[in-house]
Amino acid sequence: MLIEELNSHFAKPVLCAGAVSKDGISLIHGDSLQALKRYADNHFDLAIVDPPYGINASKGTWGSSNKGKVTNYGKKDWDKQPPNEQYFVELRRVSKNQIIWGGNYFGLPPSSCWLVWDKLNSGDFADCELAWTSFNTAVRKFTWRWNGMLQQNMKDKEIRIHPTQKPVAFEVNRES
Ligand SMILES: C[S@@+](CC[C@H](N)C(=O)[O-])C[C@H]1O[C@@H](n2cnc3c(N)ncnc32)[C@H](O)[C@@H]1O
Repeated sequence: MLIEELNSHFAKPVLCAGAVSKDGISLIHGDSLQALKRYADNHFDLAIVDPPYGINASKGTWGSSNKGKVTNYGKKDWDKQPPNEQYFVELRRVSKNQIIWGGNYFGLPPSSCWLVWDKLNSGDFADCELAWTSFNTAVRKFTWRWNGMLQQNMKDKEIRIHPTQKPVAFEVNRES
């Protein structure tokens, strides 16, 4: 399908098997590089992505030196390789700005504005996670506890289903 045939605001989910669309949000289940190729230049105002880091985080020891207690998310192989250069070229082409979690693993250009998420972790787990951004402002730090069973909002705990999952609260609070 040609880019010209696409809706100006959202790619039609009919493009991919298993895609769903509701309330102006389209979820596309597929290879991200192939999905990006369907979009016109600068289609998105902001791309927030969390690609594989290429550090075997899927093996269940990510964020610790193996001594701490880690949740078993099942044996998976999704973190063998980071995305190739073409992925990042496409990402920058289709979006005006980018926030790239795990940016410390990808050899991205210098940036004045990294996001630092202090997870208030304990033991051998990593203290923080880093996101590279295309913004020209200063480094920003967010503190949100995400330490095993302990979360920032214990009254409304999020179910953790992925080892590199990010709190929904980040999205809710992005304007603050
Ligand atoms: C670092 S994790 C991010 C997980 C995310 N934060 C979440 O909570 O679901 C990278 C994810 O990218 C997925 N992935 C790997 N290669 C992909 C590809 N070519 N296209 C789309 N997703 C891919 C992996 O299965 C993994 O779930």
